[in-house]
Amino acid sequence: MGEIVRLQKYIAMSVAASRRDAERMIAEGRVAVNGKPVTEQGVKVEIGNDIVELDGAIIKAVNKKLYIALNKPEGYVTTVKDQFGRPTVMDLVEKEIHTRLFPVGRLDYETEGLLLMTNDGDWANRVTHPRYESEKRYYALLKGVLKISELNKIRRGIVIDGKRTSPAECEIMEIDMGMTLVQITIHEGRNRQVRKMFEAVGHEVKKLRRDKIGIVELGNLPQGRWRYLTSGEIEYFNKRAIRL
Ligand code: URA
Repeated sequence: MGEIVRLQKYIAMSVAASRRDAERMIAEGRVAVNGKPVTEQGVKVEIGNDIVELDGAIIKAVNKKLYIALNKPEGYVTTVKDQFGRPTVMDLVEKEIHTRLFPVGRLDYETEGLLLMTNDGDWANRVTHPRYESEKRYYALLKGVLKISELNKIRRGIVIDGKRTSPAECEIMEIDMGMTLVQITIHEGRNRQVRKMFEAVGHEVKKLRRDKIGIVELGNLPQGRWRYLTSGEIEYFNKRAIRL
């Protein structure tokens, strides 16, 4: 048996239309199911079994896999819905993408930068699974001047939440006005990991931005905007999974 979906979803999956557009097409009498015109909303159809026509032509639902890179601004949650009604990353993509995407991993509400999103669950697991250790690169602005001894602790690994972090690459980029800008690359994805690592050596993270995951870079993508991943970027995570 094929997946059962509402007719407007089926139409949106078949042609480049939003669900709202699809509802209008139904209301305008342009849609038929198994040869019978349907004008009421909410009718369910089975993908691969029912025959759906739009303007007299048969249309087929394809669940196309999508992979995007979003430049998340500060002040958005990386969940599909937020219990406090805060803006979510879904708000930034759903006007242009009508397929339901979900975030791959997470970024804190206050963190900005690169977030991958997809509707391909297997691929998302490959990117986030600890075994595959995708590198994630961040720029962190720290309160205070980071000492070399503290930098070395961060590099070697430091105990947070009772467990040592794996070795990280970390460089000081700039020290100015009593603040330190660092670049740090980690291979894990623990909750608030970068913030906790620097807090553990006595420095509050005032600003945090992720700019790279594996080979995917944010580049000059403006804040709040997204782009499709290239096939090379998508394949990178699949190949890594095979090698490991
Ligand atoms: N580490 C953090 O502390 N926050 C993030 O959002 C990502 C990594």
